[in-house]
Amino acid sequence: MGDISHLLKPHIQKGVAYSPTALLRKLYELRDDYARLMGNELPFGISPQARQAAIEALDTAHLYPDSSYYELKKALSTYTGFPDTQIVVGNGSTQFIDAFYHGFLNPREAALFIPPDYGPYQLRLAIFGGTSQLAPRPPPDYTWNLDHVFNTITPATKEIILVSPNNPVGNCIPESEFKRLLDLDLLIVVDEAYFDFADTSLAHFIHNHSNLIITRTMAKAFGFAGLRLGYAITNPELADYLTKVVHHFPVNRITAAAAVAALGDTQYLNYVKKEIKAGREFLEKSLNGLPNVRAFPSRTNFVLTQFTASNADSNKISQKLLQDGIIVRDYTGKAGLVGQFIRITVGTQAQNEACLDSLRNAIEQ
Ligand SMILES: Cc1ncc(COP(=O)(O)O)c(C=O)c1O
Repeated sequence: MGDISHLLKPHIQKGVAYSPTALLRKLYELRDDYARLMGNELPFGISPQARQAAIEALDTAHLYPDSSYYELKKALSTYTGFPDTQIVVGNGSTQFIDAFYHGFLNPREAALFIPPDYGPYQLRLAIFGGTSQLAPRPPPDYTWNLDHVFNTITPATKEIILVSPNNPVGNCIPESEFKRLLDLDLLIVVDEAYFDFADTSLAHFIHNHSNLIITRTMAKAFGFAGLRLGYAITNPELADYLTKVVHHFPVNRITAAAAVAALGDTQYLNYVKKEIKAGREFLEKSLNGLPNVRAFPSRTNFVLTQFTASNADSNKISQKLLQDGIIVRDYTGKAGLVGQFIRITVGTQAQNEACLDSLRNAIEQ
């Protein structure tokens, strides 16, 4: 076999592929009843109406999807309150990440991030070969104060990407802070993947600001992590532009049909939101009751959990949880966090209780 390394791009060779669930296949060879509290998936499954619609859509699976996504955008329009001309659909909201680089960054222009935040943004920018600028929010609270952002902006800055509600911290950027960004002559992107759990959104700023794009996903509150469906909301001009950047047929027929049904099933969505909020409150309260454990207040379906004892070891704790059949995400040294952290997805009440029992044992040992 000949050497082909000269055919490859160095920054892609050096880049890291995001593979958060790669470990699972190995684990499931050992046992198949793990509580998956590591990926912010929905523990209750998709709406029964969405499931039925997906099954029926199999009858037309041999046909290309409607490339205008008329029905899907109409349903998203009703759900979001924005006209369909202001909505772009994607194969999960992460599909837009590449679009923000490919579609907007010229050579030597930079994207600015406000970590702690969602890892794929920086990973994909490295694969794209772009420059990242960081304006981290400081420990111990990681609250939003944008003075540091203004000091970090340079003539090279082209776009600012922020995640609110934030993953992994769980907090939202206050509108008073956010408003300061919108007058900048930059593209402002807000990832609102956890919007459905937060009861608050920055999307209304789209009415008066032409440089704002909001992305959301149905992977969380609607349980579409496996079906893959994200959407962006922006002004009509940017929506047309983004549609050109995103690959054609981003959403398959089965997912599109299921999404239309899921968006119409408000009863199921309300049930999900109520259960997740109750589970989140239970986790937050119980975790804060454990010694040397700090649960961050969350507007999402996960709880960032810090271990504050001087000898705390989040890796050891995660391994103990794993032995009890519970998978959480070890966040120590990741995403811009300083200290010992795990992130726990809100599961069913039985899973939440099992996680707490296991955690109690782990930190007592
Ligand atoms: C902030 C954030 N954005 C996007 C995603 C992924 O969304 P999707 O599954 O629609 O690509 C996640 C998933 O964990 C997330 O936390």
